[in-house]
Amino acid sequence: MSDTTTHHGLSRDDITDAGEVAAARSIKSVYVYEAPVRAWHWVNAAAIVVLALTGYLIGSPLPTQPGEASANFLMGYIRFAHFAAGYVLAVGLIGRLYWAAVGNHHARELFWVPLLQRAYWAELWGMVKWYAFVSPRPGRFVGHNPLARLAMFFGFFLLTVFMLVTGFALYAEGSQAGSWQDRLFGWVIPLFGQSQDVHTWHHLGLWAMVVFVILHVYAAIREDIMGRSSVVSTMISGHRTFKD
Ligand code: HEM
Ligand code: HEM
Repeated sequence: MSDTTTHHGLSRDDITDAGEVAAARSIKSVYVYEAPVRAWHWVNAAAIVVLALTGYLIGSPLPTQPGEASANFLMGYIRFAHFAAGYVLAVGLIGRLYWAAVGNHHARELFWVPLLQRAYWAELWGMVKWYAFVSPRPGRFVGHNPLARLAMFFGFFLLTVFMLVTGFALYAEGSQAGSWQDRLFGWVIPLFGQSQDVHTWHHLGLWAMVVFVILHVYAAIREDIMGRSSVVSTMISGHRTFKD
């Protein structure tokens, strides 16, 4: 007791707390992700989870159901969930593109990478070294970090466009010649060769997306704990806070 109490009657812990509270006032936060970006992020993530699970089951179907074929609709529901989530993904991406046009500058980061800027490559290299446990501290970034931008543009945005184009091309086979899906994406199947080729590439896209999601969620949680700024809460509240 005596060695942790000062002559003012305050414990060392009280003094440390007071210092921390004073320092907390100087911690700055920056509003980064506006509400439409955040809402889109979580709706889009849910759509992709549904697409991945149902897509897997379309490619590797469950055993045949007993009884009359007309008495159950299991594959029908699985395909319906896939197509409904596919529409959510499509409409969501169109809305997200609109927000890139009218939102703040962070809303545009997903759609391009400053590959021609020397500073970008330097920051990217710094981030690679941090992830490789070579450098002891990461840089500080308000928007996406430079490595995240690379992953989000190539691993998410371009991949998602690919999944939409191949998905709607397959969908056009069901909605038939002359449907809007056929008029917009009918050229895709002949381009790949035939229907099974598009199925195979669309299926490979699933695994590319699974790789992106695993790396993305790992990096988001790891950066939140190990990095110098808030990460997961930033995609919830929109605010980036800095720890030092
Ligand atoms: C299917 C699952 C997911 C997909 C496809 C996905 C995709 C994305 C994309 C495309 C962005 C860029 C957002 C933009 O610039 O508009 C992003 C950002 C972000 N995501 Fe996800 N996400 C998924 C799940 C998650 C989960 C589960 C978490 C939380 C643990 C998470 C945390 C974040 C965070 C924190 C950011 C912002 C990163 C930063 O501040 O630089 N995501 N995500
Ligand atoms: C991240 C996005 C997506 C993933 C991971 C995904 C995954 C899959 C997978 C794994 C298959 C099975 C392919 C096979 O082995 O034959 C499939 C089939 C299919 N997907 Fe997707 N998909 C996505 C987006 C979409 C979109 C946006 C649409 C458009 C509505 C779509 C429409 C279809 C169609 C029509 C089939 C074929 C169904 C059948 O033959 O019964 N997909 N998807």
